Amino acid sequence: MSEAGGAIQGLVVGAGGGIGSAIAQRWSTDSRFDTVWAVSREVSVDPASPAPLRHLATDHSEGQIAELAQTIMRESPRLSRVVIALGTLHGPDYAPEKSLDALQLASMQEVHRINCILPMLWISALVAGLRKSPDCRIAVLSARVGSIGDNRLGGWYSYRSAKAALNMGLRCASIELARRAKGVKLISFHPGTVDTALSAPFQRGVPEGKLFDPDFVARRLEGLLDAHSADGELSYLDWAGEPIPW
Ligand SMILES: NC(=O)c1ccc[n+]([C@@H]2O[C@H](COP(=O)([O-])OP(=O)(O)OC[C@H]3O[C@@H](n4cnc5c(N)ncnc54)[C@H](OP(=O)(O)O)[C@@H]3O)[C@@H](O)[C@H]2O)c1
Repeated sequence: MSEAGGAIQGLVVGAGGGIGSAIAQRWSTDSRFDTVWAVSREVSVDPASPAPLRHLATDHSEGQIAELAQTIMRESPRLSRVVIALGTLHGPDYAPEKSLDALQLASMQEVHRINCILPMLWISALVAGLRKSPDCRIAVLSARVGSIGDNRLGGWYSYRSAKAALNMGLRCASIELARRAKGVKLISFHPGTVDTALSAPFQRGVPEGKLFDPDFVARRLEGLLDAHSADGELSYLDWAGEPIPW
């Protein structure tokens, strides 16, 4: 498919977050895009939003994910870029666990729900509409700390295990999509340490020059999506395009 002016339709899930909003902004000022769906829990429609932006509010309930996915696929049958940027590391009632003693059912469930279960439900809901897609590139925000092979520090039990589970879910999906939706490419993406609400309490030890601006990461991710077409594989890549060990 040619990606000349106005040929691309994109979707960002988690478009209110630091990285998600940077991607939605980037795409909506990129003349190759005619539509950019921005899905978020809260939608404050800015009248100055660039024209391709279409905001949708969601509570990420199972039924609503299915409904929104159908609407998006019906109105954008040529959907060819998707970024799922949902995630949480800390909240009012939880923080990354330093020790086994800190594990609690409610916070583990919440961290797994947002980092793993919701992204997988979104892929599940979108896939029916992507069966005949000639080219759709999907990046899901994961993290290097979800790598089992790279884990030398331990800790952060819920977040690490949720991202590892996400990677496994995406791997299963890539195997299934190679049969069911051959035009779909899946990327599990580590953005580096990015200056957003998620990383804010943990930025102190980050080496100089290694705390990235969300727009820098959005540019990197846009480049990766442009460069990777369907090959039946899940790629686990960092912001520099380097593979991460599983
Ligand atoms: N920042 C980093 O250094 C870093 C490093 C490695 C990986 N990542 C990953 O990058 C992704 C984006 O993170 P970010 O840095 O942009 O963080 P962020 O600014 O906190 O954005 C995360 C987004 O996730 C969604 N979310 C959070 N809590 C939710 C809840 N209870 N229910 C439903 N959705 C919820 C929200 O989307 P809406 O506001 O649109 O509803 C939120 O804005 C995450 O998967 C994160 O794990 C980030």
